[in-house]
Amino acid sequence: MKFLNALVLASVACGRTAAAQEMSYGQAEYLDSCAVCHGVEGKGDGPLGDVLLERPADLTILTERNGGAFPYWRVFAIIDGRYIVPGHGGREMPVWGRQFLEEDAKIFGPNGGEVVTTERIHNLAGYVEQLQR
Ligand code: HEC
Repeated sequence: MKFLNALVLASVACGRTAAAQEMSYGQAEYLDSCAVCHGVEGKGDGPLGDVLLERPADLTILTERNGGAFPYWRVFAIIDGRYIVPGHGGREMPVWGRQFLEEDAKIFGPNGGEVVTTERIHNLAGYVEQLQR
């Protein structure tokens, strides 16, 4: 776990805000990659949402909508996006698993990159869990 954290720290610290060290990695990644659509507080009100065909989801009500249990693995899979069969009309949200892996594989190689990418998505899913109201 220490090893993974060091890797993730390296990938997060690399070219990102110094503030990333004072907040959780999940929060830093969220503000970096997700807030533009889902809003800083996750309510689906980010500025880019206005120009999309579909409104970004309100991420604060996922537990409520799932009968009181946070749907961790579904959220993980949706963020990663690589294993989801596209529905009609495709998907407006980027496939983060692919995008992160492209960056991470450059630094850590294909296998290390996959490990770091998976850890980043775990951090994000964990942060989305914290956003539940
Ligand atoms: C370009 C805009 C955009 C960005 C950036 C974006 N999303 Fe999304 N997201 C959407 C839209 C639109 C939906 C609604 C369904 C769809 O199009 O897939 C969605 C749906 C979701 C869902 C499913 C919610 C549900 O109702 O089950 C989750 C979870 C999610 N996003 C998390 C994230 C996370 C975490 C990030 C950052 C890594 C992110 N999104 C970045 C646009 C975006």
